[in-house]
Amino acid sequence: MTFEIRPATGADRDGVVVLHKAAAVTPGALARAPEEVTLAYGDYAIASDICLVAVEADATVVGEIHASRETVALFAHVLGGLTVAVHPERQGRGIGSKLFKALIAWARTQDPAILRIELAAGAGNPGAIRLYERLGFKHEGRQVARGRLPDGRFEDDILMGMLL
Ligand SMILES: CC(C)(COP(=O)(O)OP(=O)(O)OC[C@H]1O[C@@H](n2cnc3c(N)ncnc32)[C@H](O)[C@@H]1OP(=O)(O)O)[C@@H](O)C(=O)NCCC(=O)NCCS
Repeated sequence: MTFEIRPATGADRDGVVVLHKAAAVTPGALARAPEEVTLAYGDYAIASDICLVAVEADATVVGEIHASRETVALFAHVLGGLTVAVHPERQGRGIGSKLFKALIAWARTQDPAILRIELAAGAGNPGAIRLYERLGFKHEGRQVARGRLPDGRFEDDILMGMLL
């Protein structure tokens, strides 16, 4: 299955929402539950400073990544608020890696410069953490009991960062 990575447009909003709802069904992956993936969330994602989609030949959105530069001057070199999702039926085929590489390439072209990319991953999402390590993100800390799962258990968040 071939796919293209390109900047998202407003026309991708519904596809991004459908994708995130599908990816959110897997427990312990995305922070939002499917019912929290609203049209407003789709608009928010697309309005980020960078929002890239992976799109198949039939225009189905199968992957999405977004992030925004921090607005306070002290942190303006930091790209944060990063979220990535690949459709469960398309995971493990390199789409997530290609989305990240395109985002990092974009970040390197920005003026004023983006010098740091940061993200957080649930400790119960080792596959995602392994991917981030492979891409060059370093472990920077752990937020204990940051998340609370539907069954009441707490989950730590792993903080990761990459300097460009
Ligand atoms: C994490 C995610 C974005 C990775 O995208 P992907 O297209 O599956 O990743 P790639 O094919 O480029 O790379 C595969 C690597 O991703 C990681 N991975 C994480 N979840 C995976 C899954 N369900 N299936 C396959 N690989 C997964 C693994 O490290 C894998 O490498 P491995 O084969 O050595 O285990 C994607 O699996 C996903 O959307 N998961 C659900 C949502 C999520 O967890 N988002 C991140 C929140 S922090």
